[in-house]
Amino acid sequence: MMVQGLDSSIIKKAADALGRDLLVAFPTETVYGLGANAESRQALTRLYEVKGRPGNHPVIVHLYCLEQLYDYASVVPEPALALARRFWPGPLTLILPKSDRVSSQVTGGQESVGLRMPRHQLALALLKEFGRGVAAPSANRFGRLSPTTAADVAREFGTDVAMVLDGGPCQVGIESTIVDFSRPGELPRLLRPGMLLPEAIEAVVGRLDKPVAASRDQADVRAPGNLASHYAPTTPLELVSWAELAGKLDSLQKSGGSCAILSFKHSGDLAPAGADSCVQQWIVGAGDASVYAQNLYANLRQLDACQAGRIYVEAPPPDESWLAVRDRLSRAAVKPTVAQNEVTYER
Ligand code: TXA
Ligand code: MG
Repeated sequence: MMVQGLDSSIIKKAADALGRDLLVAFPTETVYGLGANAESRQALTRLYEVKGRPGNHPVIVHLYCLEQLYDYASVVPEPALALARRFWPGPLTLILPKSDRVSSQVTGGQESVGLRMPRHQLALALLKEFGRGVAAPSANRFGRLSPTTAADVAREFGTDVAMVLDGGPCQVGIESTIVDFSRPGELPRLLRPGMLLPEAIEAVVGRLDKPVAASRDQADVRAPGNLASHYAPTTPLELVSWAELAGKLDSLQKSGGSCAILSFKHSGDLAPAGADSCVQQWIVGAGDASVYAQNLYANLRQLDACQAGRIYVEAPPPDESWLAVRDRLSRAAVKPTVAQNEVTYER
């Protein structure tokens, strides 16, 4: 059932559903989350089942106030607290040593837990009404694009969730920045870039350790969002430069293939004229990183729906403001390999 608006009777119903170990999808400022009672074995089992997520991949526990940090973390280092004070509610997840209240189901067997206070009125109202932590991965099937509207969630999960709270399209559009404070005596480390930039984090905590390299190993659970392949549309997606795009279209044209494109310029700027008849849909993304990020998953969903042979995305600029967008796109992309004139894609 998809329901709209910040109505106290709806919030009560949703909190009640969580209390009965049912799943409730809700909006956050980043992406929609698929919520379950973080302290119920049954609810968590259902969550993993519905999401199709391997059991060793941890989920983030969502909170409505700073004090709840101490319910779920056993240690809160001063710099982590400073970050929470500065950026919560907001698109930031802290990885901290877990308290006894956190089961290994939540942490994927690790000794640390991910905690976040989202900046969305509906989410905060639900979390407050429920009163306890809500485990919520992004509300998509494992490995797929995160949802940024309630309709995306309803389409993906149908009746597998008790309620989908509709809070409109997400403002940030891509998942929270994750900072790891779980390694005693070591510098905090960026586990997943987000729209809250390293620069802003370093201004509060000092230097961050260098990020962990992306992993192609499904068993690597430090941050499964850190798998080299994740956040992917079903159509093979290739990252290309503007200069490469003309050549790609030319050969597609010759081979009778089709594609869908997300670029920074319009087709009219690409010579030769008429080279775009193999393009089923062409979306021009915003030149501003925040606006581009806000629309990224909706744009990729649209391009995916064309069912073209492939999606070409023009690679974003190298600046720090594009770090998170570049990260998601590189994980959405497949590596084409050409052998005997046949292109295959590695996931
Ligand atoms: O913006 C967000 O963070 C959204 C909204 C719904 O809050 N949630 C989200 O959840 O993106 P999910 O489950 O799709 O991604 C959570 C990421 C995963 O990469 C997971 O591995 C990592 O957080 N994570 C959670 N707990 C962790 C832990 N204890 N140690 C390391 N990584 C952890
Ligand atoms: Mg996710």
